[in-house]
Amino acid sequence: MSRGGLFITLEGGEGVGKSTQLRMLVRRLEGAGWKVEATREPGATALGKRISDMVRSAAGGGPVDKAELLLYLADRAQHVARVIQPALAKGMAVVCDRFADSSEVYQGRARGLGAEQVRRLNQWVCGETWPDLTLVLDLDPQTGLQRALERQDSLGLGLDRLESEDLEFHRRVRKGFLDQAAAEPERVTLVNAGLPPDEVAAKIWAQVELVSEGRRP
Ligand code: TMP
Repeated sequence: MSRGGLFITLEGGEGVGKSTQLRMLVRRLEGAGWKVEATREPGATALGKRISDMVRSAAGGGPVDKAELLLYLADRAQHVARVIQPALAKGMAVVCDRFADSSEVYQGRARGLGAEQVRRLNQWVCGETWPDLTLVLDLDPQTGLQRALERQDSLGLGLDRLESEDLEFHRRVRKGFLDQAAAEPERVTLVNAGLPPDEVAAKIWAQVELVSEGRRP
């Protein structure tokens, strides 16, 4: 449990609709009287933006798996210390698009560095700053990648190094999140992201209300 405030993370594969749901959740939390810090990983701090560019770049063959993990952890260390922990200390609600579970699933499970090993490193990096609730938006990876492709097309962009991983990799990511939810059911909740956005938002809000019960904004 985080010490003060309310700490919620949104997780899932590519194109599951995290950004849309994050916006809707922020509005609902504000409506319930919370002051909200909406943030994301990677890239929420000045250092994090530079790390995010490094991790996305395919220059020189891109980072090897261990380097990629350490870059995400460095981004997280800075993010926790400079953004998340201070907001929680002020009693705010922090809503974060991806956090420690992304490293455990993408690097630990899908790239095979080991979920246990990544969890230990995450615990060292995050200390007490751990999510009260993690919502995993679950969607068939083929549908998710198609959505991600359409979004990038509409922005006139191509897929980056990570989005262009093969379908098999994205299947391992999905299974990784399902295993993550099964391993920690008291914190991690699965939400069917194939439903219409309003229905997904309603399911998310029901979970948030349960967790925030007894905590005053
Ligand atoms: P997004 O903008 O779709 O959230 O993409 C961020 C990418 O970074 C996504 O492919 C997942 C990846 N990622 C990791 O592999 N490990 C991590 O710890 C984090 C935070 C993100």
